[in-house]
Amino acid sequence: MVKAVRGMRDILPNQARRWDLVEQTLTRVLQQHAYEAIRLPLLEFTELFARGVGEATDIVEKEMYTLADRDGDSLSLRPEGTASSVRMLQEYGLLYNQTQRVYYAGPMFRYEKPQKGRYRQFYQIGAEAYGFVGPDIDAELIGLAWACWQALGIESMVNLEINTLGSSEARQRYRKALVDFLTPKSEQLDEDSRRRLTTNPMRILDSKNPATQALLNEAPKLPDFVDAQSLEHYAGLKQLLAAMQIPYRENPNLVRGLDYYTHTVFEWVTQDLGSQGAVCAGGRYDGLVERLGGRSTPGVGFAIGLDRVVLLHELAQANVEAEDRSADVYLCVTHPECNGAALVVANSLRAALPTLRVRQHMGGGNLKKQLKKADASGAVVAILIDDESLDQQTLTIKHLRDAGLGQETVTFEAGIARLQQH
Ligand code: HAM
Repeated sequence: MVKAVRGMRDILPNQARRWDLVEQTLTRVLQQHAYEAIRLPLLEFTELFARGVGEATDIVEKEMYTLADRDGDSLSLRPEGTASSVRMLQEYGLLYNQTQRVYYAGPMFRYEKPQKGRYRQFYQIGAEAYGFVGPDIDAELIGLAWACWQALGIESMVNLEINTLGSSEARQRYRKALVDFLTPKSEQLDEDSRRRLTTNPMRILDSKNPATQALLNEAPKLPDFVDAQSLEHYAGLKQLLAAMQIPYRENPNLVRGLDYYTHTVFEWVTQDLGSQGAVCAGGRYDGLVERLGGRSTPGVGFAIGLDRVVLLHELAQANVEAEDRSADVYLCVTHPECNGAALVVANSLRAALPTLRVRQHMGGGNLKKQLKKADASGAVVAILIDDESLDQQTLTIKHLRDAGLGQETVTFEAGIARLQQH
């Protein structure tokens, strides 16, 4: 047997029900905020991510699934959605002189070490806003994520962390100061941090290594380098978060692993999933459109890691899966000749009651065997189709969960009314 590729997700029917519920809930919240859906390709030119996410980031350096197209172009499976979203809106002239608020959902691919909550194919729902300079849109996006947690009932399991990286000039100044401080002490750094010193020094702040952290205590601090305009933006955001009563913690070490951020960055983290704590992350990326060849346009957004949110939802509400019902109504036939009639009746039921899940028995067998299957499906009622069902427009309903109700033959209309109750 050929097995699944390591880290690529299989989502089985009983898990998929929870996924559907979570996705539908999040999509509804995004739509309530009047964000518009977009769909992005899975494959892009590798250059988009190299320029967008950043050549020196872990994602681009060692985590992308990159392949050569048949004509030699280098393509990569998308590791995230922000660069593609900028590329698409820019390509269709949708960023110039207008604002946009969009969302996307789907699988992303990163060659990371798989473990609980971390996969090589994982799912994100992302929201992005373009053309807004003030902190009000940062606050709207954070509020949107908060509304998502509330709608899912997991708001007590996540905490918001925020920081500001300042303008890109401030970031450059800080980067230089950090490198100047750490270079003479580089032998005290852990191996990863030593490598980052020349590639992506600000990520050293993220290091979990105690010796590196001890060294960083003495290092120049990012907030001392942030420019006045950025601080004002940040203060504005904090005021709005307070007005919305969203609790947050300032984390001056929050720098994010993608290169495009400026000013606000934020992460929603949880203690409930072991080491994979970030369930949603984002921030402002005012320089990205320009970096990808467009006119300077401010951008801000976030992406929710669905895999992790589904795990949290499972902890918060264990009983979605306990509902072991794959169909509401199960259609049986009294004779094999009634199969045609059953197909017709099944479609009439679906048309009359669009949310009802109607499963028709397949594969023959006597009525007893069919009813056994009906029971196993979790359906509340079986409908027995005989020679007369179609001619007489009747339904024979057998109640499977309440023996007292037994079996009854009623008109099609009365049957629909009865089924409506399930
Ligand atoms: P990111 O921090 O790389 O940001 O990913 C966002 C979220 O995706 C993470 O917080 C996490 O929940 C989830 N995630 C990332 N990698 C994995 C993985 N290997 N397995 C499972 N879940 C994972 C971005 O992708 C940015 N594009 C976010 C953004 C949008 N910033 C502005 N707009």
